[in-house]
Amino acid sequence: MSEPLLQAKDLCVHFGGGRTMTGRRKQPFAALKGIDFEINAGEAFAIVGESGAGKSTAARCVIGLQRPTRGELLFAGEPLPFRRDRVQRQAIQMVFQDPYSSLSPRMTIGTALDELLRVNKICDSRAAARKRSVELLEMVGMPESALDRRPRAFSGGQRQRIGIARALALEPTLLVADEPVSALDVSIQASVLALLKGLQRELGLSMLFISHDLAVVRQLCDRVAVMWDGEIIETGPVEEVLSNPRQEFTKNLLAASTDLPPLEMVVDPAAPAAPAEPTAPAGRADPPEPTAPADPTAERS
Ligand SMILES: Nc1ncnc2c1ncn2[C@@H]1O[C@H](COP(=O)(O)OP(=O)(O)O)[C@@H](O)[C@H]1O
Ligand SMILES: [Mg+2]
Repeated sequence: MSEPLLQAKDLCVHFGGGRTMTGRRKQPFAALKGIDFEINAGEAFAIVGESGAGKSTAARCVIGLQRPTRGELLFAGEPLPFRRDRVQRQAIQMVFQDPYSSLSPRMTIGTALDELLRVNKICDSRAAARKRSVELLEMVGMPESALDRRPRAFSGGQRQRIGIARALALEPTLLVADEPVSALDVSIQASVLALLKGLQRELGLSMLFISHDLAVVRQLCDRVAVMWDGEIIETGPVEEVLSNPRQEFTKNLLAASTDLPPLEMVVDPAAPAAPAEPTAPAGRADPPEPTAPADPTAERS
């Protein structure tokens, strides 16, 4: 088999430490206690675990937002340092739990995408960037008119779609998605997950998918690592781990996971005749959010 796309070897992250005001040593807190995992090309790999397990810390190491205390990352066999060049940064992109953290509230979506595409030299003119932006929005089921609006004009689900378009703009090889739907209304989670999975397959992306929900992982991922208290306690193909969990903790996690409709049953995000998700003000040309029920209180920003 060919070399894994990403390898994490003995990844450790300690927070705190140093000394108190009286000079005594503070005990550092180990958020990651030496984890190893591999993600193959085109594979969707999940890290699952309860809150505080260290999942986001692992994701932040991969994306280059957190410097590991020890251990190393390899990307296509080459060392992936904390300080990265443009090519290394572009290759790994993140979809955040809260899309607000990747979208400036003051910029229209068009300006933000234009800047991203031109600063990173994906496009060399305003016109080319506009054309590419429209394509990116189309990929996530959003209309061209979204370009002229700011993030707060959109519902949570739409904002996350834009967050996905933003991550795809730099044509990454590996997409890191840290709980990408946990901030969204339950009724629209499935459609955003279906979109993510569809894009991953279509574009042949590798994905590191972080979740606390094994049911979601079952639908989206090929292999899974179960984390507990900074360690990976179980790992393997999703079906294997789920049908025969060896650790008590994994069994409990499985019992606590939600029921989701199979993603194949979720309507294509771009399909026109779906019921509309209520949108934030001035929602004239907003696209429908396919699986949303008509709950007017849901998903307003
Ligand atoms: N910057 C930080 N400083 C100190 N502790 C942190 C920091 N980031 C995370 N932690 C701690 O590390 C542990 C793992 O956090 P995190 O990776 O966010 O877990 P998860 O994403 O699985 O919920 C938690 O106990 C959290 O409080
Ligand atoms: Mg987290």
